[in-house]
Amino acid sequence: MAAKRVRYLKIGIIGLGPRSPAQIIGTKDVGNAVVTAICDCDESRIEPSLKLMRDNQMKRPRTYLDYRELLADPEVEAVMVPASWNPHIPIAIDAMRAGKYVACEVGGACSIQQLWDLVHASEETGIPCMMLENCCYGRDEMLALNLVRQGLFGEIIYCEGGYEHYLGGLARTIESGRERSFHNLRRNGDLYPTHALGPISKILNINRGNRFVSLTSTATKARGFAAAAEKNGGKGSGGHRDFNKGDVITTVIKCANGEVITLKHCVSLPRPYSRSCRVQGTRGIWLEDAKGIFIEGRSKVETHGPPGATWQVEKWDTVESYYEEHDHPLWKSFRDNITGGHGGMDTLVIQAFFDAVRHRAPTPIDVYDCAAWMSITCLSEDSIAMGSAPVPVPDFTNGKWIKREPERETPWMLSEIYKG
Ligand SMILES: NC(=O)c1ccc[n+]([C@@H]2O[C@H](COP(=O)([O-])OP(=O)(O)OC[C@H]3O[C@@H](n4cnc5c(N)ncnc54)[C@H](O)[C@@H]3O)[C@@H](O)[C@H]2O)c1
Repeated sequence: MAAKRVRYLKIGIIGLGPRSPAQIIGTKDVGNAVVTAICDCDESRIEPSLKLMRDNQMKRPRTYLDYRELLADPEVEAVMVPASWNPHIPIAIDAMRAGKYVACEVGGACSIQQLWDLVHASEETGIPCMMLENCCYGRDEMLALNLVRQGLFGEIIYCEGGYEHYLGGLARTIESGRERSFHNLRRNGDLYPTHALGPISKILNINRGNRFVSLTSTATKARGFAAAAEKNGGKGSGGHRDFNKGDVITTVIKCANGEVITLKHCVSLPRPYSRSCRVQGTRGIWLEDAKGIFIEGRSKVETHGPPGATWQVEKWDTVESYYEEHDHPLWKSFRDNITGGHGGMDTLVIQAFFDAVRHRAPTPIDVYDCAAWMSITCLSEDSIAMGSAPVPVPDFTNGKWIKREPERETPWMLSEIYKG
């Protein structure tokens, strides 16, 4: 019998900064896809990517300095966009209008208008737009999702998370023009909400029977970046600048079904990395920073004190003790063969995008998710600018959220590749 011919997806990559190797090598790791074209408006970025591809025995792609030319290339059927934050949305809109599936790296929006433009481009063309929010595919985030879907936490009441990652070095890259540094210099809001908000939104069925309705956001004073720059060379290195972004931004989001989400953004004070997730229901809780899970009726409870005057002390189970039985089905089939960056979640998110492209199916993170999640950035800026005033979150689905079904339990992967 003749061997079944594999159809290789033809992928274009726009933006060749430090994040792009994850997509270039990720395409190879995932398999059944080739990078046919790469693009960066900065010419000096092209050769390092070509070298990376040569070193990894990947075929030489076509190269472009203007992303519109890449989008017009018939040898590109879908694009991944690890470009800087501001160009994500214009590139995604142009990609959809050129008929190409598009997946942007993570980031926030600068205005609500550009998010409506994004939604309208997808609705008018019928082409999906995905965010490559790899944290939606993290093992522990998916374990929590699975525990929630199995009802073990009861009804979910409260979620929390953040991006708490010391990036003091950004104060030094003002001089070299790195876009992200300028966002931190000039804006004051939660610039990077989606690493925690993505998984939490999936848990709370946002845009599928639930939605964000309003938020408030509060910023502390800003000292961290100036101190970091001072330590690393002082004058001329950013230390003399006044950074607008407060060191800790706290955003509180209310959901239509009564849940509350607290998000933290903290990148300018020294601390270990954490996404600080907490998912809490009427019967149980996952707390990332405690590396623990507690489920009523299952986890250990100790009794202390003298007879007649006792009290109970609830004890954490380790997260690891839940993997064997409760890993998300996707992780059950992936855990013995983990490949790719960030503990495998880079591979899973790219695989999910490729599956959707291959089947011409909706992407598991869709344009409404992108708009709702990215809106938190500019809305938190608005709230902070108005003294932490509440601001409404637009309904980018225009009412579709009311009747959209929650996702099925394991809908995120159409692929056969990681089947158990
Ligand atoms: N998911 C994750 O774990 C993760 C990790 C790191 C970075 N990221 C995200 O990846 C993205 C890229 O990060 P980075 O650190 O490489 O950013 P960067 O700003 O250092 O590099 C981005 C590259 O995009 C290019 N670019 C900008 N505008 C362009 C345009 N119009 N056309 C073509 N190229 C353009 C720039 O010249 C630059 O080479 C960001 O959204 C970042 O938040 C995600």
